Amino acid sequence: MPYKRPQGTSDILPEEIKKWRFLEEQAREVFDRYGYDEIRLPLFEHTNLFARSIGEATDIVEKEMYTFGEGKNQVSFRPEITAGLVRAYLENNMHKQRAFRKLFSIGPAFRHERPQKGRSRQFHQLDVEALGTIDPHLDAEIIIMAHQFFKKVGVENHEIIVNSTGCPGCRPAYREVLKKALSPHLAKMCENCQNRYERNVFRILDCKKDACKKITAETPVITEHLCSSCGPHHDKVIELLGKYNVPFKSDARLVRGLDYYTKTVFEIISTSDGLGSQNAIGGGGRYDGLIHELGGPELGAIGFALGVERILLAMGEENAATADQEINMVYVVTRGDEEKDFAFEVIEGLRNAGIKAEMNYEGKSMKAQMKAANKSGARFTAVIGPSELENRSVNLKNMETGEEKKVELEILAEAVDK
Ligand code: HAM
Repeated sequence: MPYKRPQGTSDILPEEIKKWRFLEEQAREVFDRYGYDEIRLPLFEHTNLFARSIGEATDIVEKEMYTFGEGKNQVSFRPEITAGLVRAYLENNMHKQRAFRKLFSIGPAFRHERPQKGRSRQFHQLDVEALGTIDPHLDAEIIIMAHQFFKKVGVENHEIIVNSTGCPGCRPAYREVLKKALSPHLAKMCENCQNRYERNVFRILDCKKDACKKITAETPVITEHLCSSCGPHHDKVIELLGKYNVPFKSDARLVRGLDYYTKTVFEIISTSDGLGSQNAIGGGGRYDGLIHELGGPELGAIGFALGVERILLAMGEENAATADQEINMVYVVTRGDEEKDFAFEVIEGLRNAGIKAEMNYEGKSMKAQMKAANKSGARFTAVIGPSELENRSVNLKNMETGEEKKVELEILAEAVDK
């Protein structure tokens, strides 16, 4: 074919849409139960919004954004949803109506990464943000909600990795401790980590190279350097997660790829084989400085985003059922062209009565139409021949039981409903 989709994008075909809709419906149900309202946002924002929030020295902002234009007019496709959502919360004065607000948004995000299984350039997130509070109960609640969601969609094999990333109060001191501990080993570390040492030393803890991992395994951890605000906050979150049976693991070396985080950070990992290295099906954390950083008041916030494509992969691995919806569909079959006008009247009548209905537009034989009816999953066929045409009725067949009866058009929708 002369035209192919760009690398790292996919066409989500009708056969797969059922699973997507299932996932989105389940997400909406769970998020609603926990008090989140939906918000829809632009797919691109001013580039400086992302630089200011995600951080200038992050991989996302440095090399992964799709950016257009210059200066004040420069915009980028969103590499995540949080920054735009906080911008909208402030721009629409939501913080003035009531500071505490729970919001969610579902949609695509874009990152120019090297595509591989579970990693694409256009992917989709289920994003949840609770804005306006520093209460640790909310940290626990949001993690419990993510766990509930995964259980609901049949992704039983998952683990939640939790850490604290401190705050601007305690992080600078830990940064120095970490730098001091790493400095004698710098020459043995990969080039990327050598660059990160000055620019963003915490990212070194996330390096997957064996040589670097060996060194960072021995370095002091942040949880030993948390301040009097972050320490008790972290203890409370851990206590609550334990109490509500969330399958979590503390990992003092967990760092996230976005700079806005403070205190609680977490990642949700699929423990099924088959997702390979891209097994993070979600990630999030607290970002108590971001609302102020973007021009708003000093308010705390926490959120997470789940990756739809990776969840679908995990569901496939676990053979999770995506409840097939039973639909009351009628497939109208005609003997010849003479009955077509009447068939059209029948399907339009059914659709008006709220029933899904279909007929044949391709001049197929009756046998081929019956085959098409079978394939469509219709619960009924309505056969129309010359005699049905004459007395304005159909021969209604229940495809499951094989039961057949003649039904007049006037009472057809009622009969199907019954
Ligand atoms: P993130 O960890 O960068 O966090 O992304 C969240 C999830 O999006 C990942 O765990 C993964 O499932 C999915 N994801 C990320 N990149 C890709 C990709 N290239 N291909 C496929 N899936 C991907 C955030 O985006 C934060 N905004 C989360 C957050 C919300 N923190 C606070 N509030």
